[in-house]
Order: sequence, then structure tokens, then C-alpha cells
Amino acid sequence: MKTVTLNTGERVPAFGQGTWYMGDDRATRAEEIAALRLGLDLGATLIDTAEMYGDGRAEQLVGEAIAGRRDEVFLVSKVLPHNATRRGTVSACEKSLKRLKTDRLDLYLLHWRGGVPFAETLAALMALKSAGKIRHYGVSNLDFSDMQEMWPLAGGAEVATNQLLYNLTRRGIEWDLLPWLRERRVPVMAYSPLEQARLAGNAKLKSFAQRHGMTPAQAALAWLLAADDVIVIPKSGRRERLRENFGALAHTLTAAQLKELDGLFPPPQGPRALEML
Ligand SMILES: NC(=O)c1ccc[n+]([C@@H]2O[C@H](COP(=O)([O-])OP(=O)(O)OC[C@H]3O[C@@H](n4cnc5c(N)ncnc54)[C@H](OP(=O)(O)O)[C@@H]3O)[C@@H](O)[C@H]2O)c1
Repeated sequence: MKTVTLNTGERVPAFGQGTWYMGDDRATRAEEIAALRLGLDLGATLIDTAEMYGDGRAEQLVGEAIAGRRDEVFLVSKVLPHNATRRGTVSACEKSLKRLKTDRLDLYLLHWRGGVPFAETLAALMALKSAGKIRHYGVSNLDFSDMQEMWPLAGGAEVATNQLLYNLTRRGIEWDLLPWLRERRVPVMAYSPLEQARLAGNAKLKSFAQRHGMTPAQAALAWLLAADDVIVIPKSGRRERLRENFGALAHTLTAAQLKELDGLFPPPQGPRALEML
């Protein structure tokens, strides 16, 4: 499995599994659990979830999927901004741990910026780390100016990742945020790497993928995986699609293919406001 090195020195799988909307429908639950377990068998042992997803239902489903296999997993969850106070963060984390049936998270992220000062959330995250309830912490949906504000604060430079909307149709971060993170060795965790399935149906990508012997989803993921500091977390609750997506790791795009994709999905020509889904 290709790995990405966090600024803490720890290596994590470059291909992880998203879980948004998992656990919402009884009819698909068994297949979702089977897909997550198949992912673990394949080596996609990073699982991304959040207290927000289905009001805890996704965390519960993940807890069930990883039962008996906790030590194989690099488990990521997130605190909602309105819970991200000094006490609220600790209490939200403890609830997540209960739903996930575990005693620690590998990575705990602030889901997006809310009204709580960064210094307060960082203090809570540092306390959780000292208590052994989380191994690393990070952020999500923080833009260039947010990162510059957070970095000098106590604990700010220990942020292990920024989880961001990043895919062929959402390249804005390449202008300023991504280079800034790279200089500090903070990898990006690319969420919605398939643009929530829209890239699988994108005509330009379909034609590219057909010409180069891969599926559109594989092309979208292989493009992100071409960087050595980007982690992808596609979500699929179906084993067949998980296998297809995992197949992206077998397609190392050439310089010519990357150039062709730049032509089809151009990089930003100036600063853009951070996009979120
Ligand atoms: N930090 C944040 O604010 C944030 C925001 C959004 C997402 N996330 C995280 O990132 C993960 C991934 O993002 P996402 O779920 O928004 O979108 P995504 O991974 O880009 O796309 C998921 C959607 O694509 C479908 N799909 C998966 N593989 C496919 C394939 N090979 N062909 C066609 N369709 C396919 C899935 O359906 P099936 O399941 O039916 O296959 C699902 O509807 C989330 O699950 C979540 O963990 C974080």
C-alpha cells in the first residue's frame, strides 16, 4: 500500500475509506459493513468518519465494522464546530469513542471553523492527546488565512492534516493553501475525491479514462494519488465499487497523462475562496 507521511513522522495509507451517509439505511447496512471490512483486507485501513454523519450512526456502523480489528485501523473522526469548546471537545470525543467502541482515535479533526476561538479548541485537543484519547489531531475545511492564524498558536504547528475538498473539478487549493501546507509537511486529506460520484459520470473524464484503460473513478483517484502527500478517502458502501476504486493504486499516471488532465481540468489561475461540501 502506498503511504503518506504525516508531519509527526507516522505513515498512513494513501487510500482510505470515507463513511458519510453510511449507516443511514437499514437495507444497505450489511453491505456497507462488508465493504469497510473488505477495505481493511485490501490494506485501506484508514477510515474517516465524524460525529456529524447520521448523528453518530456512521460512527456506530464503523464500530461494528472494525470490531475485533481495531489495531489494524487508523481511525479518524471529527468534532462539530459548535462542540469545539474546551469541555465540549472532550465530551464529544468521549461520545465518539463510545459509538466507535474503542478507547482512542488515531486522528481527531475540527470539522470546520465555527465561533469557538482556535486557541480554545487546540487546548482541548492537546489535553485529549495527553490523556491518550487521541493520538494526533488536525483540522478540516480551514482556508489559507485560517491556517496562518492557527499555526503560531500553542499546539497549532502540530496539526497533522487539513482535510479539504480536493478533486479534478475543485483545484482552488493548489494556488496558495496546498503549497503553504507542503512547506510545513502537512499532508492534505482529499475529501469527495469523486465529487460525490459526479466525476464518474463526467464526459471529459470518461473519455480520458477510456483512452487510457481505466475507469473514470480510477482516473480521478489516480490523479490525486500522483502526489506523495495527498490521502484520498473515497466513500463506497459497495464492495464492487470499492474494488474498482482501489484499482486506482495500480495506475500511476505518466507526465503526459497528467498534462492531458491539466488541459481538461485546468489548475487555478489565481486565488479562490475555499470550497466546501
Ligand atoms: N471534512 C468534510 O467536511 C468532509 C466533507 C465531505 C466528505 N468528507 C469525507 O470524505 C469522504 C468522501 O467524500 P464523499 O462521500 O462526499 O464523496 P466521494 O467519495 O467523492 O463520492 C461518494 C459517492 O460516490 C459513489 N461512488 C463511489 N465509488 C464509485 C464509483 N466507482 N463509481 C460511481 N460512483 C461511486 C458512492 O456511492 P456508493 O456508496 O453507493 O458506491 C457515493 O455516492 C466522505 O465519505 C467523508 O468521510 C469530509
